[in-house]
Amino acid sequence: MKRIVVALVLAGITGLSIAQQTLKPEDMIHYRKAGLSFISWNMGKIKANIDGSYDKDQVAVAANAVAAAANSGLFASLFAPGTDKEIGGEKTRARPEVFQQPDKFRDLGAALAKEANELAKLAAAGDAAAVKGQFGKVARSCKNCHDDFRKD
Ligand code: HEC
Repeated sequence: MKRIVVALVLAGITGLSIAQQTLKPEDMIHYRKAGLSFISWNMGKIKANIDGSYDKDQVAVAANAVAAAANSGLFASLFAPGTDKEIGGEKTRARPEVFQQPDKFRDLGAALAKEANELAKLAAAGDAAAVKGQFGKVARSCKNCHDDFRKD
């Protein structure tokens, strides 16, 4: 059974990387903006729980979603050369620096994934105070990247 699951997962990963190679530039821009909006929506849910009445399950679900999206490889795969300007009607606020300093950009993406993974762990444990502190770290890693790589 386990072997079947592993095979399916591997097949899925292979399928995904092939699909990404054939993504049109406008689709990359579309998907990355959708992914970042999805992350933002889930961050908003966590913030509302921190500021209001704390629902452990809702926070855990939202934190998992942020971590999954942050770990999806979007900062590497969906910011390919040729997606630095509006194309096919898809506007972008990515700065030229994203494509000039791809290593720095990806490192900031990896930093977000690391903090988001930690947030998901703390959220699963249900410690509201720890979640609040870690939420601040995740939000800072968003800002760290936006400051240099996203247009206002
Ligand atoms: C590694 C860099 C990086 C990190 C980390 C990052 N972002 Fe962004 N974000 C960008 C860039 C670049 C854009 C512009 C994308 C575009 O317009 O093509 C963007 C765009 C967005 C958008 C606008 C999407 C749209 O529809 O136009 C939102 C919302 C957003 N980010 C939220 C977040 C949040 C919340 C976090 C942290 C949890 C975060 N981002 C972390 C680089 C980053």
